Amino acid sequence: MNLLWLTDLHFCSEEKVAGVDTKACLEAALRHINQHYADADLCILSGDMVDKGQAGDYQELRSRLDTLPMPWYPLTGNHDDRSLFREFLPVPDNAMDTHIQYVLPTPEYDIICLDTLQEGSSQGEICELRMAWLIQQIEAAGDKPIYLFMHHPPMTLDLPMQDLDSFKDREIFLRTIAGYPKIKTIFAGHVHRAVCGQVAGIAYATMKSLSVQAPPPYPAWTWDSFKAADEAPNYGVVSLSGNSVNIQFVEFL
Ligand SMILES: [Fe+2]
Repeated sequence: MNLLWLTDLHFCSEEKVAGVDTKACLEAALRHINQHYADADLCILSGDMVDKGQAGDYQELRSRLDTLPMPWYPLTGNHDDRSLFREFLPVPDNAMDTHIQYVLPTPEYDIICLDTLQEGSSQGEICELRMAWLIQQIEAAGDKPIYLFMHHPPMTLDLPMQDLDSFKDREIFLRTIAGYPKIKTIFAGHVHRAVCGQVAGIAYATMKSLSVQAPPPYPAWTWDSFKAADEAPNYGVVSLSGNSVNIQFVEFL
Protein backbone atom coordinates (compact mmCIF):
# COMPACT_ATOMS: atom_id res chain seq x y z
CA MET A 1 0.00 0.00 0.00
CA ASN A 2 1.19 3.49 -0.81
CA LEU A 3 -0.01 6.10 1.58
CA LEU A 4 0.49 9.85 1.39
CA TRP A 5 1.27 11.62 4.65
CA LEU A 6 0.66 15.36 5.00
CA THR A 7 0.98 17.31 8.21
CA ASP A 8 0.52 20.75 9.73
CA LEU A 9 -1.26 22.45 6.87
CA HIS A 10 -2.16 25.47 9.06
CA PHE A 11 -4.60 26.40 6.31
CA CYS A 12 -5.67 30.02 6.45
CA SER A 13 -7.69 31.38 3.56
CA GLU A 14 -7.32 35.11 4.17
CA GLU A 15 -3.85 35.82 5.48
CA LYS A 16 -0.32 34.49 5.63
CA VAL A 17 0.89 32.47 8.61
CA ALA A 18 4.38 33.48 9.83
CA GLY A 19 4.84 35.09 6.41
CA VAL A 20 3.86 31.93 4.50
CA ASP A 21 0.94 31.63 2.07
CA THR A 22 -0.48 28.36 3.38
CA LYS A 23 -3.25 28.30 0.77
CA ALA A 24 -0.67 28.44 -2.05
CA CYS A 25 1.34 25.66 -0.37
CA LEU A 26 -1.72 23.42 -0.21
CA GLU A 27 -2.64 24.14 -3.81
CA ALA A 28 0.91 23.32 -4.95
CA ALA A 29 0.90 20.08 -2.94
CA LEU A 30 -2.45 19.03 -4.41
CA ARG A 31 -1.21 19.74 -7.94
CA HIS A 32 1.95 17.71 -7.28
CA ILE A 33 0.01 14.82 -5.78
CA ASN A 34 -2.47 14.76 -8.63
CA GLN A 35 0.38 14.76 -11.12
CA HIS A 36 2.70 12.20 -9.50
CA TYR A 37 0.94 10.18 -6.81
CA ALA A 38 -2.68 10.01 -7.90
CA ASP A 39 -2.52 6.22 -7.59
CA ALA A 40 -1.73 6.26 -3.84
CA ASP A 41 -4.26 4.27 -1.84
CA LEU A 42 -5.05 6.83 0.83
CA CYS A 43 -3.86 10.04 2.44
CA ILE A 44 -3.48 10.77 6.16
CA LEU A 45 -3.17 14.34 7.43
CA SER A 46 -1.70 14.45 10.93
CA GLY A 47 -3.26 17.56 12.39
CA ASP A 48 -3.16 21.34 12.53
CA MET A 49 -5.50 21.25 9.58
CA VAL A 50 -6.20 24.98 9.93
CA ASP A 51 -4.28 27.71 11.71
CA LYS A 52 -7.00 29.49 13.64
CA GLY A 53 -9.75 26.90 14.09
CA GLN A 54 -12.31 28.95 12.15
CA ALA A 55 -15.39 27.59 10.38
CA GLY A 56 -14.72 29.37 7.07
CA ASP A 57 -11.21 27.93 6.85
CA TYR A 58 -12.46 24.40 7.54
CA GLN A 59 -15.10 24.82 4.85
CA GLU A 60 -12.61 26.05 2.27
CA LEU A 61 -10.05 23.43 3.25
CA ARG A 62 -12.65 20.68 2.82
CA SER A 63 -13.47 21.75 -0.70
CA ARG A 64 -9.79 21.71 -1.64
CA LEU A 65 -9.01 18.35 -0.03
CA ASP A 66 -12.00 16.82 -1.76
CA THR A 67 -10.00 17.18 -5.00
CA LEU A 68 -7.60 14.49 -3.76
CA PRO A 69 -8.01 11.43 -5.96
CA MET A 70 -7.84 9.03 -2.97
CA PRO A 71 -9.73 8.77 0.35
CA TRP A 72 -8.27 11.13 2.96
CA TYR A 73 -8.25 10.96 6.74
CA PRO A 74 -7.61 14.01 8.94
CA LEU A 75 -6.37 14.08 12.55
CA THR A 76 -6.75 16.83 15.12
CA GLY A 77 -3.84 19.06 16.16
CA ASN A 78 -3.57 21.77 18.77
CA HIS A 79 -4.65 24.43 16.25
CA ASP A 80 -7.87 22.55 15.52
CA ASP A 81 -11.32 22.97 17.01
CA ARG A 82 -12.77 19.53 17.61
CA SER A 83 -16.41 20.42 17.02
CA LEU A 84 -15.77 22.43 13.82
CA PHE A 85 -13.46 19.63 12.68
CA ARG A 86 -16.34 17.15 13.06
CA GLU A 87 -18.73 19.53 11.35
CA PHE A 88 -16.63 20.16 8.25
CA LEU A 89 -14.14 17.33 7.80
CA PRO A 90 -14.79 13.64 7.13
CA VAL A 91 -14.54 11.43 10.21
CA PRO A 92 -14.78 7.63 9.79
CA ASP A 93 -17.82 5.91 11.27
CA ASN A 94 -15.71 3.88 13.69
CA ALA A 95 -14.33 6.99 15.44
CA MET A 96 -14.91 7.48 19.17
CA ASP A 97 -17.93 9.64 20.01
CA THR A 98 -15.92 11.85 22.35
CA HIS A 99 -12.63 12.14 20.46
CA ILE A 100 -11.59 11.85 16.82
CA GLN A 101 -9.69 8.57 17.09
CA TYR A 102 -10.32 5.80 14.57
CA VAL A 103 -8.86 2.69 12.99
CA LEU A 104 -8.11 2.09 9.31
CA PRO A 105 -7.99 -1.69 9.20
CA THR A 106 -6.38 -3.66 6.35
CA PRO A 107 -5.91 -7.41 6.02
CA GLU A 108 -2.16 -7.05 6.68
CA TYR A 109 -2.00 -4.38 9.40
CA ASP A 110 -4.04 -1.77 11.21
CA ILE A 111 -3.47 1.97 11.07
CA ILE A 112 -4.63 3.69 14.25
CA CYS A 113 -5.18 7.44 14.18
CA LEU A 114 -5.13 9.21 17.55
CA ASP A 115 -6.57 12.48 18.80
CA THR A 116 -3.96 14.21 21.00
CA LEU A 117 -5.77 17.54 21.19
CA GLN A 118 -6.06 18.98 24.69
CA GLU A 119 -8.58 21.82 24.43
CA GLY A 120 -7.08 25.22 25.24
CA SER A 121 -3.48 24.00 25.25
CA SER A 122 -0.71 23.56 22.72
CA GLN A 123 0.44 20.53 24.67
CA GLY A 124 -0.80 17.11 23.54
CA GLU A 125 -2.34 14.37 25.65
CA ILE A 126 -3.94 10.97 25.54
CA CYS A 127 -6.35 10.94 28.47
CA GLU A 128 -7.53 7.76 30.22
CA LEU A 129 -10.57 7.51 27.96
CA ARG A 130 -8.51 7.72 24.80
CA MET A 131 -5.88 5.35 26.19
CA ALA A 132 -8.53 2.76 27.09
CA TRP A 133 -9.89 2.98 23.53
CA LEU A 134 -6.35 2.63 22.11
CA ILE A 135 -5.63 -0.47 24.18
CA GLN A 136 -8.92 -1.98 23.00
CA GLN A 137 -7.94 -1.42 19.36
CA ILE A 138 -4.44 -2.79 19.90
CA GLU A 139 -5.87 -5.95 21.46
CA ALA A 140 -8.45 -6.24 18.67
CA ALA A 141 -5.70 -6.15 16.01
CA GLY A 142 -4.63 -9.68 17.00
CA ASP A 143 -1.33 -10.60 15.34
CA LYS A 144 -1.39 -7.75 12.84
CA PRO A 145 1.30 -5.04 12.95
CA ILE A 146 0.06 -1.60 13.96
CA TYR A 147 1.06 1.84 12.68
CA LEU A 148 0.16 4.83 14.83
CA PHE A 149 -0.52 8.32 13.48
CA MET A 150 -0.83 11.21 15.94
CA HIS A 151 -0.28 14.95 15.95
CA HIS A 152 1.94 15.41 19.03
CA PRO A 153 5.05 13.25 19.19
CA PRO A 154 5.11 11.42 22.54
CA MET A 155 8.90 11.67 22.84
CA THR A 156 11.56 14.37 23.01
CA LEU A 157 13.41 15.05 19.77
CA ASP A 158 16.41 17.17 20.76
CA LEU A 159 14.47 20.20 19.54
CA PRO A 160 14.67 22.44 22.63
CA MET A 161 11.72 24.69 21.83
CA GLN A 162 9.36 21.99 20.53
CA ASP A 163 10.31 19.60 23.35
CA LEU A 164 9.21 22.05 26.04
CA ASP A 165 6.26 20.44 27.73
CA SER A 166 4.91 19.08 24.45
CA PHE A 167 3.05 15.95 25.57
CA LYS A 168 1.37 15.45 28.93
CA ASP A 169 2.47 12.27 30.73
CA ARG A 170 4.56 11.07 27.80
CA GLU A 171 6.36 8.50 30.00
CA ILE A 172 3.08 6.81 30.92
CA PHE A 173 2.00 6.73 27.28
CA LEU A 174 5.33 5.28 26.14
CA ARG A 175 5.44 2.74 28.95
CA THR A 176 2.00 1.51 27.96
CA ILE A 177 2.61 1.15 24.23
CA ALA A 178 6.08 -0.36 24.81
CA GLY A 179 4.22 -3.44 26.04
CA TYR A 180 2.95 -4.08 22.49
CA PRO A 181 5.77 -5.03 20.12
CA LYS A 182 3.25 -5.21 17.27
CA ILE A 183 3.26 -1.39 17.21
CA LYS A 184 5.88 -0.81 14.53
CA THR A 185 6.04 2.91 13.77
CA ILE A 186 4.72 6.18 15.16
CA PHE A 187 4.11 8.95 12.61
CA ALA A 188 3.75 12.37 14.24
CA GLY A 189 3.43 16.02 13.25
CA HIS A 190 3.48 19.17 15.38
CA VAL A 191 7.22 19.93 15.38
CA HIS A 192 7.44 21.13 11.75
CA ARG A 193 10.76 19.36 11.29
CA ALA A 194 11.79 15.91 10.12
CA VAL A 195 13.28 13.69 12.82
CA CYS A 196 13.43 9.90 12.85
CA GLY A 197 14.54 7.49 15.52
CA GLN A 198 13.37 4.86 17.94
CA VAL A 199 11.70 5.08 21.35
CA ALA A 200 10.42 2.31 23.63
CA GLY A 201 11.48 -0.13 20.90
CA ILE A 202 9.23 1.60 18.33
CA ALA A 203 10.46 3.43 15.24
CA TYR A 204 9.17 6.96 14.77
CA ALA A 205 9.21 9.73 12.22
CA THR A 206 8.14 13.34 12.27
CA MET A 207 7.96 15.53 9.20
CA LYS A 208 8.14 19.09 7.94
CA SER A 209 4.95 21.08 7.72
CA LEU A 210 3.08 21.34 4.44
CA SER A 211 3.55 25.11 4.79
CA VAL A 212 5.48 26.80 7.67
CA GLN A 213 8.89 25.35 8.62
CA ALA A 214 10.47 25.55 12.08
CA PRO A 215 14.15 26.51 12.05
CA PRO A 216 16.81 23.99 13.09
CA PRO A 217 17.64 24.11 16.82
CA TYR A 218 20.93 25.95 16.25
CA PRO A 219 21.50 28.85 16.08
CA ALA A 220 19.26 28.81 19.16
CA TRP A 221 15.86 30.49 18.96
CA THR A 222 12.86 31.00 21.21
CA TRP A 223 9.15 31.28 20.50
CA ASP A 224 9.49 35.05 20.97
CA SER A 225 12.14 35.23 18.25
CA PHE A 226 10.53 32.59 16.00
CA LYS A 227 10.88 33.18 12.28
CA ALA A 228 9.79 30.56 9.78
CA ALA A 229 12.78 28.83 8.20
CA ASP A 230 13.32 29.46 4.52
CA GLU A 231 13.05 25.76 3.69
CA ALA A 232 10.88 23.97 1.16
CA PRO A 233 7.87 22.10 2.50
CA ASN A 234 7.31 18.45 1.79
CA TYR A 235 4.87 15.61 2.16
CA GLY A 236 5.58 11.95 2.81
CA VAL A 237 5.14 8.98 0.52
CA VAL A 238 4.91 5.94 2.75
CA SER A 239 5.00 2.41 1.45
CA LEU A 240 3.69 -0.12 3.94
CA SER A 241 3.91 -3.82 3.39
CA GLY A 242 3.46 -6.14 6.36
CA ASN A 243 6.33 -5.33 8.69
CA SER A 244 8.26 -3.12 6.30
CA VAL A 245 8.00 0.66 6.03
CA ASN A 246 9.65 3.16 3.69
CA ILE A 247 9.10 6.88 3.94
CA GLN A 248 10.18 9.28 1.22
CA PHE A 249 9.98 13.02 1.79
CA VAL A 250 8.86 14.72 -1.39
CA GLU A 251 9.37 18.43 -1.99
CA PHE A 252 6.76 20.04 -4.18
CA LEU A 253 7.66 23.75 -4.22
FE1 LIG B 1 1.62 22.81 13.55
